[in-house]
Amino acid sequence: MKKQAALFQELFGHSNNLQTYFCPGRVNLIGEHIDYLGGLVLPTAISLGITAICRPNSEREIRLYSTDFVGTSSLNLDDLSNSKQNHWSDFVLGVILHLQQNGVEVQGCDILVSSTLPKASGLSSSAALEVLCYYMFYHVAIGNGPDRVQMALDCQKIENEFIGVNCGIMDQFAVANGKTNHAIILDCNTLKNEPIPLNLGSYSLLIINSNKPRTLAESAYNQRRAECDKALQILKQHREVTNLINAKEEDLKLLENEVLQRRTKHAFTEQQRVLNSKLALVKGDLKEFGKFLNDSHYSLRHDYNVSCTELDFIVDQLNKSEYCLGARMTGAGFGGCCIALIDTNHSKELQSQLMISYTKCFGFPPSFYNTSSSGGVHKVTL
Ligand code: GLA
Repeated sequence: MKKQAALFQELFGHSNNLQTYFCPGRVNLIGEHIDYLGGLVLPTAISLGITAICRPNSEREIRLYSTDFVGTSSLNLDDLSNSKQNHWSDFVLGVILHLQQNGVEVQGCDILVSSTLPKASGLSSSAALEVLCYYMFYHVAIGNGPDRVQMALDCQKIENEFIGVNCGIMDQFAVANGKTNHAIILDCNTLKNEPIPLNLGSYSLLIINSNKPRTLAESAYNQRRAECDKALQILKQHREVTNLINAKEEDLKLLENEVLQRRTKHAFTEQQRVLNSKLALVKGDLKEFGKFLNDSHYSLRHDYNVSCTELDFIVDQLNKSEYCLGARMTGAGFGGCCIALIDTNHSKELQSQLMISYTKCFGFPPSFYNTSSSGGVHKVTL
């Protein structure tokens, strides 16, 4: 943090009264691609995240610098109309416009942003940046933090409408409401949620980044959503059903189309796996939880078709070891990260083996992150 303060001084010419804010990223333990279907998800916020050092500057100017994203940016608070520029600052701009439209007086600030979250890897760096800025501008203006559920909803709206990405609520909710050593089970229909203790004992959650760029992710994501809408419309012609996650095995024959049948099967089986995982975690049965992780991956790979060769390779290789209880892709898919439940004492050796076999197969190495679960966005007291 000292280094950041020195950089802040160099960039903005002062470093007194700095305020620091942190927002975590997230991994989803299970409940993939069902948040936008109103399903249950089980994410946890992680200790990797984005930090902003900020100082109000008594001007009508937001001056932004990032050590990780390219370029500096300056936003004039009295004239934001033409400020969108396909740049990381668009996330900041979207948040400022939203807050201004909702009566929060955003103040001019000098801001230095730095991140330990790999970008475009499915660990929610976009949600973290939105929620971080929302919390920080609100806190600077009002003196305390906003309502966290409302903040998550607003940030999802900004992502959908201003950034133009049609995501569900899971990511923003997880990074806004994370709790140390807990995952959150969230009903994406009602937003009812409950922290679930993560007592992993001698096991730990390893994040493996395939380092495969998620090129197809956005169009395929929208395509999956459209397929699910279509499947639901067809089922509605036959019986009363409000969400695809409530479909049943016997509904599949009503769909006729084989692709829609598989999408639907993923939706209701994944919902059941989340419920079962919650029970397994509460009982402390990690073996059983690991099995659900594998089943989820199988379903995402074969029924929902959002995995890729690299992610499948990681899951398959790790599962050859008795020290891995289960593994799956996490996030939207088509690249990005996997999570695995690994015996902590053997984690290093599994990582070395995977590093060798993966690099040999694909010509580029994976990355590994040993993280713990973290609290949601907050002001950091130094
Ligand atoms: C992305 C979206 C989330 C969710 C996941 C898949 O991370 O932002 O809303 O749909 O994909 O579970």
